[in-house]
Amino acid sequence: MTDLASNPTATTHPPYSKQEWQQGYESQRREEAYWLELISGSVPQGLTGTLFRNGPGLLDINGIPVQHPFDGDGMVCSFTFQEGNVYFQNRFVRTAGFVEEQATGTILYRNIFGTQKPGGWWKNAFDFQHKNIANTNIIYWGDKLLALWEGGLPYRLDPKTLETIGIDQLDGVLAEGEAFAAHPWIEPNSVLNNNQPCLINFYIEPGLSSTIHTYEFDTNFKLLRKQSHSIPGFAFIHDFAITPHYYIFFQNPVQFNPIPFALGLRGAGECIKFKPEDNTRIWVIPRDKNRQQPMTELEVNAGFIFHHANAFEVSNQQLCVDSICYADFPEVDPESDFRDVDFDALYPGQLWRFTLNLETAVVKKELIEPRCCEFPYAPPQKAGQPYRYLFMGTAHQPRGNAPLQAILKYDWETRERQVWSAAPSGFISEPIFVPQPDSDAEDDGWVLTLIYNGAKHRSELVILDGKTLSETARLALKYHIPYGLHGSWVSQCFV
Ligand SMILES: [Fe+2]
Repeated sequence: MTDLASNPTATTHPPYSKQEWQQGYESQRREEAYWLELISGSVPQGLTGTLFRNGPGLLDINGIPVQHPFDGDGMVCSFTFQEGNVYFQNRFVRTAGFVEEQATGTILYRNIFGTQKPGGWWKNAFDFQHKNIANTNIIYWGDKLLALWEGGLPYRLDPKTLETIGIDQLDGVLAEGEAFAAHPWIEPNSVLNNNQPCLINFYIEPGLSSTIHTYEFDTNFKLLRKQSHSIPGFAFIHDFAITPHYYIFFQNPVQFNPIPFALGLRGAGECIKFKPEDNTRIWVIPRDKNRQQPMTELEVNAGFIFHHANAFEVSNQQLCVDSICYADFPEVDPESDFRDVDFDALYPGQLWRFTLNLETAVVKKELIEPRCCEFPYAPPQKAGQPYRYLFMGTAHQPRGNAPLQAILKYDWETRERQVWSAAPSGFISEPIFVPQPDSDAEDDGWVLTLIYNGAKHRSELVILDGKTLSETARLALKYHIPYGLHGSWVSQCFV
């Protein structure tokens, strides 16, 4: 373990090979199920359950590259932890578009981030249909395993085999043509739900003005409450935050020009222009409609935000929201290969804390971690609550922008940082913290991360100790899994 955040002698040379990093974006077509081989350490006996992960598995369709990794077809992995062993499976989500394109061997649909049908703009013009790629997150809730993508409906999978069952409209809660965001929160003890767990998610209905739809479900996926609020302007909102009494949405300051999209020249996501000089609008929506409290609008210059780490209520009128912010939107040039990205030319994501005063509408912001970071993950038992520890992906070096190669644990109480690094050949994925059952210590548990080992062109599952961030075990996959997006842990074993 190293603490590079306070290491003034850290090297200024890139701690990674760009070629090794690029290879992690090679498509993976193999789908297998097998026990993982232990490389080092031992898998804790007390770690029992399943880690599910999702991300783009294909970065090309029959040799035609996708324009952006966000456009890659979703491939789900499961890691079942049982008695010190780990059973692995991976399968593509067989969405309707995936099945059709694999059968024909070509790209048949437009994608949000610029992957278009072959044949030029006139083959794409005025085609407003997108392929649901189900590639962003995966949750198990109410006996349903769901692959999530914010542009469409969830796809249900069999948790034992990862076979695709089909589109799931959550017993009619979601209508055809609607969507379900990829960033649900699970609140372990909901004061609005008799202190029972509940799942909270949203859907942004796009348009010249946008509508935020929010949903809360009990443990059987029964709808507890739903709200809809219209907000002015186009909204690009990937994630949101919750507290016991509020939903919090940060509306990134962007402008959408639909013309290049309509004419087939650009994907919809490539027509979004970030306006860094404009303020982010923050919408704070009371969860309990019976309180008859209006939605509050606040503003702050926050940069571009994909992910929030957590939020909590300091008082009736004061909320804290912790988020990863970019000084500029990390756009991909439509004419270039995303693998050729110049990291030095892009702003890093950084951790900020926003303190919202609902009475005065004043927002204070504080830069917490200037180091390049992403994929924040707070202990799940602290969702929407004051919390002490935060886990995040981070760069190996303390300054500058670079691929995520390390895990950072931040202590809000002492403001100390611990860093575990997989450099030079390891590239990490979202760190998922699994609490030790029946322990009161917030960081008592394990951090799970799937790393891409560029030297071996294979992926490895790494288990870290939550308290010390030391490496507990490392297990080898037989092949690599392309860089993924999000995942989740459940205490059940399905195989
Ligand atoms: Fe995300």
